[in-house]
Amino acid sequence: MANDDKKNIYMRLIRYSYPYKGLIAVSMIASLGVAGTDAATAYLVKPFVDKMLIEGNLALAKLVPFLIVLLAAVKGFSRYLQEYHIRCAGQASLQDIRNEVFRHSVQLSMRFYSNNSAGRLMSRILNDINVLQAAVSDVIVSLVREVITIVFLTGYAFYTDWKLALMAFVAIPAASWPAAAIGQKIKKFSRRGQGAMAEVTSVLEQCISGIKVIKAFAAEEREEKRFVDQNEGFYRLMKKTFRYSAATAPVMEIMTSFGVAFVLWYGLGRVAAEELTKGELFSVLAAILLMYSPLKRLTKANNRIQKALGAAERVFEVLDTPVEIQDRDDALPLPKSEGRVSFKNVTFQYEKTPVLIDFSLEVTPGEVVAFVGPSGAGKSTVISLLNRFYDPQEGQILIDGVDIREVTSKSLHDSLSLVDQDTFLFNDTIANNIRYGHENASIEDVRAAAQKACADEFIQQLSEGYETVIGDRGVRLSGGQKQRICIARAILKDAPILLLDEATSALDTESEALVQQALVNLMENRTTFVIAHRLSTIKYADRILVLEKGEVVEMGAHQQLLDNDGLYKRLYDAQFQE
Ligand SMILES: Nc1ncnc2c1ncn2[C@@H]1O[C@H](COP(=O)(O)OP(=O)(O)O)[C@@H](O)[C@H]1O
Ligand SMILES: [Mg+2]
Repeated sequence: MANDDKKNIYMRLIRYSYPYKGLIAVSMIASLGVAGTDAATAYLVKPFVDKMLIEGNLALAKLVPFLIVLLAAVKGFSRYLQEYHIRCAGQASLQDIRNEVFRHSVQLSMRFYSNNSAGRLMSRILNDINVLQAAVSDVIVSLVREVITIVFLTGYAFYTDWKLALMAFVAIPAASWPAAAIGQKIKKFSRRGQGAMAEVTSVLEQCISGIKVIKAFAAEEREEKRFVDQNEGFYRLMKKTFRYSAATAPVMEIMTSFGVAFVLWYGLGRVAAEELTKGELFSVLAAILLMYSPLKRLTKANNRIQKALGAAERVFEVLDTPVEIQDRDDALPLPKSEGRVSFKNVTFQYEKTPVLIDFSLEVTPGEVVAFVGPSGAGKSTVISLLNRFYDPQEGQILIDGVDIREVTSKSLHDSLSLVDQDTFLFNDTIANNIRYGHENASIEDVRAAAQKACADEFIQQLSEGYETVIGDRGVRLSGGQKQRICIARAILKDAPILLLDEATSALDTESEALVQQALVNLMENRTTFVIAHRLSTIKYADRILVLEKGEVVEMGAHQQLLDNDGLYKRLYDAQFQE
């Protein structure tokens, strides 16, 4: 990372603390208390040595116990104030970062999600922010306090005897040189370690979501090996980090001992030459020794900061991923749609190969259009484009004559109701899953929708009916039951354009027939795009489009297409051979 980038990352991180200036100010003031007591301690060494030890002034000595308690009390109270306020400020800033990463992630396009594994994203959001968290709680707490303490002690040492202090400040900082070099190494390996951790998480996530396949193929051992290997890679990187971080303190200590020995030797010479009292010498030495632990903490802090910068860089990478699809500044809400849809010469590709080529289609309000074709033909892509999950490279998609890129995403999706194979349900009650996006819907509306989707019956049989919690933390449902809940959700939404992509694929023939009837009712007075692998279910469509390799090869009503004796006929015959 170039120095400029590093500075930018610092500045960006610091910007998150702006809203908590008040807390930080209190903490800084309290730091003065901590630093002041340390400087006072060094200062008191001088009269202690000169007046009490050498002159034997016992009256003064009686004050010492009292002073010890007083200094400890002032220091303790200041530390408490300092630490409490800075921790709160750090935590609050971190919470803002976490929220921002989440907010931004949700905005990112479908393309981003199909290119990034869930595990890697979660690792980035959780692990990297945890590294920042560790840095915030350890580093920020001590950073300002230690720096102020060092400044005070340095000031005091120079004030007492600038020659001796100068000597100390030439000799001792030599210690920070190797430490800084070590910090660089630590940063490098820790960044790679974080990357390796993301891989480990990714393997883990894949295994957990694909556990059924793994078991069915008895691939446990293979997966275990993959995981163990990834984990081993992570360990090797961490070992390198440890090698350097473990060396930091000893190297510092050894270097410092040289410095201190040298200063002591020089100081004793000056006392012998009577340029300095013994009290002054010990007082300056006390100041230097008191600097040792803040300095040590600062180098530790430096290592942590290097780690945190690595993590911050990765977090900012997510934040800086441009949101490919977003509302224009002048986006208007789409008026209550009639359901006229047109695709005008749309050409689209996910990556290199075109998936839709010069695709045009005019759909009148209320029309039911079915899409048929081999898998990979581009049927689902048509629906994704209408949802604006992606923008086409060429051409236009219009609803009621308005380009969907000109309207707000909210109003666009209010006009569309999508049911596909992906029957995702939230960890929530059945009722809340059905009213998702329409939180105000009454339980009667929810039930009516479920009835139309042929879901009411099985829901009633569950122990807590509509209030049954489903998903990870609740009752397990069959694929067909989940699909019916998704259909109920779409029915409740009551949007003018209905998009059904294999919406009944998880149902058995019997319930499909029932749900099919519900869907036919739902299609009434609604523009509908329907994709179904069972051709029997799309016979009644007003129009059938046969897609092959991204192009419309046939179009017409069921009978017409059969008479055509083309791809549709072949697909149809193949399905009804038995
Ligand atoms: N997210 C994606 N990224 C890259 N390619 C994709 C993505 N989704 C689909 N494709 C490709 O686009 C083509 C059309 O896919 P799709 O519209 O899902 O087909 P269908 O629904 O007709 O089976 C396929 O070749 C598929 O591999
Ligand atoms: Mg599909």
